[in-house]
Amino acid sequence: MRIKRLIKIEEIPLNYAIDIALVKAIVAKYKGKKEGLIALLQEVQTVYTYLPKPALQFIEAELNYTLGELYAVATFYAQFKLSPSGKYSIKICKGTACHVQNVNAVMDEISAYLKVGDGETTPDGKYTLESVSCLGCCSLAPAMMIGEETFGKLNRETAINHIKNFEQ
Ligand code: FES
Repeated sequence: MRIKRLIKIEEIPLNYAIDIALVKAIVAKYKGKKEGLIALLQEVQTVYTYLPKPALQFIEAELNYTLGELYAVATFYAQFKLSPSGKYSIKICKGTACHVQNVNAVMDEISAYLKVGDGETTPDGKYTLESVSCLGCCSLAPAMMIGEETFGKLNRETAINHIKNFEQ
């Protein structure tokens, strides 16, 4: 089976200023070790909330990995993010109960309203839109969370209204 790479390294955004000094102490702990790449990337993401390209370039320069290897791991595991998260996350449930209640239409409407796709952050940094497998409130399907608040029995219109009301 062939797995197509979804992203080219040169397409990874570099337009976020970061303090590279924050990654130096983390990288120092992994020098000379061949294992522990995932743990290393998790620590870097804990600091920055995502994996900034300059941080990965620093890891490439300091450790025995190529940038391609680092991005292969970072794009394989869903836990890693390549751009900063927004102030609030909007989690859209794509679990079975929500799927049969037409959550895809709700997702499309929200995506069009915010002008971002799944996993992306609005240009103002306010929202990150992400699909999740189950929010644990299947009787409210289709459901979503904005920040820490849960909203259920959604349709296209109510979903947008909840976002508008949350913005105020
Ligand atoms: S399937 Fe959507 S909340 Fe469980």
